[in-house]
Amino acid sequence: MTAPVIEAIGVRKRFGDHDVLRGVDLVVHPHEVVVLIGASGSGKSTLLRTMNLIERVDDGQILLAGTDITDPRIDADATRARIGVVFQHFNLFPHLTVLDNVTLAARRVHRTPRAVAAQRGRDLLSALGLGDKADAYPDRLSGGQQQRVAIVRAIMTEPELLLLDEITSALDPQLVGEVLDLVR
Ligand SMILES: Nc1ncnc2c1ncn2[C@@H]1O[C@H](COP(=O)(O)OP(=O)(O)OP(=O)(O)O)[C@@H](O)[C@H]1O
Ligand SMILES: [Mg+2]
Repeated sequence: MTAPVIEAIGVRKRFGDHDVLRGVDLVVHPHEVVVLIGASGSGKSTLLRTMNLIERVDDGQILLAGTDITDPRIDADATRARIGVVFQHFNLFPHLTVLDNVTLAARRVHRTPRAVAAQRGRDLLSALGLGDKADAYPDRLSGGQQQRVAIVRAIMTEPELLLLDEITSALDPQLVGEVLDLVR
C-alpha cells in the first residue's frame, strides 16, 4: 500500500497556556477526502496551519508522503510547494491580475516557464468559467469568482495535498454551490 498523503502523529500545539491541539492523530490516504468538524476555536485552522508549516508543532510529527516535515532541517518552502491551500478569505494579491495571481507560484517556486504557466492558467480559468477574467484585477470579481480563482491558484501546481479551510463561509449562499461544484 502507498504511504498516506499526510499523517499527523500526536501533534501538540499550545498558545501561551492555551492547549489547542492535544495529541492529534490523523491519516489521509491518496484520493481520500477528510472533513474536520468542530466548534469555533477548537483548532481546525491551527491543525491545517501546522500541516502547511505556517505554525510549528510543539510536539508530535507530521509526515507528508512518509517524510517528517516537522524535522527542523526540512526545506519548508519546498514542502509548501507540494501542498495547495485555500483560505476562507481568498487572499489574492490585489495588485496582480487574475492570471498573474494564478501563475505566480508556478513561475517563481516551480520555475515553470512564463508561457507554459500562462497557458495552463488560462486553460484552468476557462474550464472553471473564468476565461474572460484572466486579465482583470481581483477587486473587479465577485466573492465567488475570487474564491474560484484562489482554487485555481491552489491546483495550478498539481499539489499532492489540498487544504481547504472553510472556503465557502465568506460567500453568499447562492455562490456556495459554484465553489463546491468546482472542488468536487
Ligand atoms: N497565533 C495565535 N496566537 C494565539 N492564539 C491563537 C493563535 N492562533 C490560534 N489561536 C487560538 O487557538 C484556538 C484555535 O484557533 P483556530 O483558528 O485553530 O480554531 P478553528 O477551529 O479554526 O475555529 P473557527 O471555526 O472559528 O475557524 C483559538 O482559541 C485561537 O484563539
Ligand atoms: Mg478556522
